This record gives sequence, C-alpha cells and structure tokens, in this order.
Amino acid sequence: MPPIDPADFARTMAHVPTPVTIVTTVDRAGQRWGFTASSFSSLSLDPPLVLVCPAKTASCHDAFVTGDRFLVNVLAAEHADIASSFARSGHDKFTGSPMEPCEFGLPGLPDATARIACTLHDVLDGGDHSILVGRVESVSAGGAEPLVYYNRLFTRPGASPALASTS
Ligand SMILES: Cc1cc2nc3c(=O)[nH]c(=O)nc-3n(C[C@H](O)[C@H](O)[C@H](O)COP(=O)(O)O)c2cc1C
Repeated sequence: MPPIDPADFARTMAHVPTPVTIVTTVDRAGQRWGFTASSFSSLSLDPPLVLVCPAKTASCHDAFVTGDRFLVNVLAAEHADIASSFARSGHDKFTGSPMEPCEFGLPGLPDATARIACTLHDVLDGGDHSILVGRVESVSAGGAEPLVYYNRLFTRPGASPALASTS
C-alpha cells in the first residue's frame, strides 16, 4: 500500500465526531495551562483510567507530562467560544475566562457537561503527540448538552430522540 497522504488522513478524521474538552493543569511555579482537546477517551474501568493526547509541539505539553494532575472539562454546547480560545496558542487563555478553581484547585468550568479529575498514571509515546493516561480520582456530571466537533465545526449532538439504546 502507498503511504497515507496526511491531508487525506486529516480529511477522513474530520468525519469522526468527537467530544470537545479543555484539559487544564497548574505547574510547580503556579502557572495555569490548558488546551482544547478532542483526543479524550475513557480507557479502563478497573482501574479507572482515561487518556488525552497533547501535541509534543504544544506550549503546554511539558507542563502536562511533568505534572502530577490534570482536569478534563467536557464542554457544553454553549462553550464553543472558550473552545476556540483554548485552541489558540500564544495568548493569556485564563484571564477573563469563566474558569474557576475546581477539583484539586485546578482551573475548571463550573457548568461543564462533565469534569474528570485525574492523577497522572502514565505517559506513552504517540508519534507527534504524547498519550497522557490519567487515573480518575473524581468525577462530576452536570448533564448539559455536550459540544461536538464534526467536519471541522463545533456543533450539537444530532439525533434526538435516540435511535437505539445500548442496554
Ligand atoms: C476541536 C479541537 C480539538 C483539538 N484537539 C487537540 C488534541 O486532542 N490534542 C492537541 O494536542 N491539540 C488539539 N487541538 C489543538 C490545540 O487545542 C491547540 O494547538 C492548543 O493551542 C495547543 O496548546 P498551546 O496553546 O499550549 O500550544 C484541538 C483543537 C481543536 C479546535
């Protein structure tokens, strides 16, 4: 098979709907870090593990891989603006944002659809990204309608009512 064209790969992955999260941490000097991430996933129930993948080129990368905790904020449909802000490098993302100290005192969104607070369990190599494996220490689900990223756009979940139940 010929090597995959990166543009084809990116175009294809744009068809995969994802959740939108903002993952935050605070480093030893007290500096807050955060980035918009759609690479968030549940990993294991026992022990309770999740994963999220910061790019090795992100300015926040080292703070996450050397830190001991992070907080995943699963964004609600009303959070598209803050998702865009935390996806932009090189500006102060926190001043003027609705982030408040939440679990572990880490910056969080009080009206997030869900928050998952983690201690850093492992860091794995994922090509040009690192895979942060977090051990889930605390969860909170507010239940607001989630924000979804699909076709390079922020949107809302589509089918309502549900098409089928999984149980
Ligand atoms: C919807 C969406 C999802 C994203 N998901 C990821 C992700 O999972 N991992 C990642 O490294 N960057 C992701 N990004 C890009 C980062 O949010 C962006 O590059 C960020 O500014 C990097 O952090 P920095 O400001 O510390 O460099 C995503 C951007 C958007 C708009």
